[in-house]
Amino acid sequence: TPPEPCGMVIFGASGDLVARKLLPALFGLFRRGLLPERFFMLGFARTPMTDDDFRGRVSESILAAHPQGAGQLDDFLALCRYTYGDYDDPAAYTNLALCSSECVMDYHAAENLLFYLALPPHLHAGVVRHLHGAGLTAEGENGSPWRRVVFEKPFGHDLASALELDSRLCSVLRQEQIFRMDHYLGKETVQSILMFRFANAIFEPLWNRGYVDHVQITVAESLGIEHRGAYYDSAGCLRDMFQNHMMQMLALVAMEPPTSFDPERVRDERVKLLHSIRPWTADDMRHWVVRGQYTQGVTAEGASLAGYRHEPRVAEGSTTETYVAARLFIDNWRWQGVPFFLRSGKRMPRKVSEIAVTFRRVPHSMFGMHSKSEMPANVLVLKIQPEEGIDLHIQAKQPGPKSCMATMALAFKYREIFGINPPDAYERLLLDCMLGDRTLFWSREGVEASWRLITPVLDTWCDNPQTSPLHQYTAGTWGPEAAQRMISAAGRQWRR
Ligand code: BG6
Repeated sequence: TPPEPCGMVIFGASGDLVARKLLPALFGLFRRGLLPERFFMLGFARTPMTDDDFRGRVSESILAAHPQGAGQLDDFLALCRYTYGDYDDPAAYTNLALCSSECVMDYHAAENLLFYLALPPHLHAGVVRHLHGAGLTAEGENGSPWRRVVFEKPFGHDLASALELDSRLCSVLRQEQIFRMDHYLGKETVQSILMFRFANAIFEPLWNRGYVDHVQITVAESLGIEHRGAYYDSAGCLRDMFQNHMMQMLALVAMEPPTSFDPERVRDERVKLLHSIRPWTADDMRHWVVRGQYTQGVTAEGASLAGYRHEPRVAEGSTTETYVAARLFIDNWRWQGVPFFLRSGKRMPRKVSEIAVTFRRVPHSMFGMHSKSEMPANVLVLKIQPEEGIDLHIQAKQPGPKSCMATMALAFKYREIFGINPPDAYERLLLDCMLGDRTLFWSREGVEASWRLITPVLDTWCDNPQTSPLHQYTAGTWGPEAAQRMISAAGRQWRR
C-alpha cells in the first residue's frame, strides 16, 4: 500500500546529509512511484534562499548522485519548497506552520506531516519544543492526520544527555510519533540477516556456543572525516559508529528469534540482546578496548592522506579516536563464553562492512596433512557492503590423485542473483516513516541500553586517559598494532 498523502519538512535542508543522502533517496522513491500520490517537500534551514535557489541545490545534489541522468527531475523539483529562519526563534515556527498549510493546499496533500531533523543533536529538543508550541506536532483524533518526527543519530552525547533528550521529547510527543533513524538498519543486507537466520532451518541449530568459535563485526571505511571535522571531533568513532550501527548489527546477529515479525517483538528482542552484553570492567577497558587515531599516510594508489589532526576543523592536538576495536561477551545461554570482536575505523585500506561467524574446528582431523589445530575453520560471512552477499567458507578436496585440501567459498552475490544493486537504505527508511512502520528504528530502551554500555568507556578515556592510551595508525592501514595484539592475545586473528 502506498503511503497516505503527506508533506515532509526537512530541517537542516541546506546541509550535507540532506544533499548526499536524503534528497537522492526521496528522488529515488519518486522515480519508483513510491511517494504518496499527493506529496510535497518543504526545506527549512537558517540560510536565506528562495524556492528557486533551493530547487537549484536540490537539482545539483540529485545530479551528483545520478550522474548518468535524472529523468523526471523537473517533476520532482516542482514538489520542493523552502522557507528559512532561526531554529531558536518561535516566529520561525509560526511562519513554518503557515508555509506548510499553504503547501497542503497547493499540493492537495493531507495534513499528515513528517518532520525530519537533519540537525546536530543539541538542537533536537529545542526544535521539537518549538514545533509543539506552534501546534505542529498535534495529531487529529485516532492519529489522523498524523505528525511524526525523525531524528538522526547520535541520540544524545552520552547516557545522561540521551535520557534527558528522551524525557524532553516524550513530554510533547507520543512514542509512536518518534522515529530514531539508524541507516544501517535500512541496508538490505542488514535486514536480510533476520531472514537468513530465521527462515532457514539449517543455520540456527549451529548458531550458539556449542558450534561458534567467535564472531567478528567489521565496519571499515577508506574515507576520512571529509568536511565533518567539527562534528566528528566532538563525537569520535565510539559515538559515531559503535553506539549505533555496530550495536544494531551485533543485536541482529546474536538476538533470539522474535515470536513474530511485528515491530515491537523484533525491537524487544534487539533490546534484550543489548541488555545481555557484559559491561566492560576497568580491566577490560585496559586490555580489550583499543582506540586509535590515523596519522599521515597514503592510499593504495599512492595518493597522500593527511593525518587526522591536520584535517579541517579538528582541534590541534585532538585526542578523538578514529578507530575502535573491542572484545565483548554476551551473558546469556546461547553465547556464554563466545568472544565477539568488533572494529570500526576511518582511513582503512578499503571500505568493507561484514559480520563473520567463525565456527569451531572439527574435533579430529583424519587427513594427515592437517593437525586438528591447523585445520581451517568454517566461516560464514554476511557481507553488508560493498559487495553485498553471503560467503560460506568450507574445505574441499582439490582435484587430483593426492588428498590435497583447499578452502573455498560458496558465494551468494546479491547482484548476480537478483540482478540489481540493493536499494538505498534511506529510501527504505523514509518510506517506513511515511507508512508509520517503526520496525527498523531504534527504540528508547535500545538507545539507553547501548549508551549504558558505551558511556563508562567514554568516561574512562576522559578521566583516566593513561589507562587506555590513544594509539596511532598510519592512514591507509588496518589500524593500530595494539588491535592486532589484542585479538592475538585472545588466540584469534582479524580477517583480511
Ligand atoms: C554515519 C557516520 O552514520 O555512517 C559516518 O556518521 C560514516 O561517519 C557513515 O561514514 C558510514 O555509512 P555507510 O553507509 O557509508 O557505511
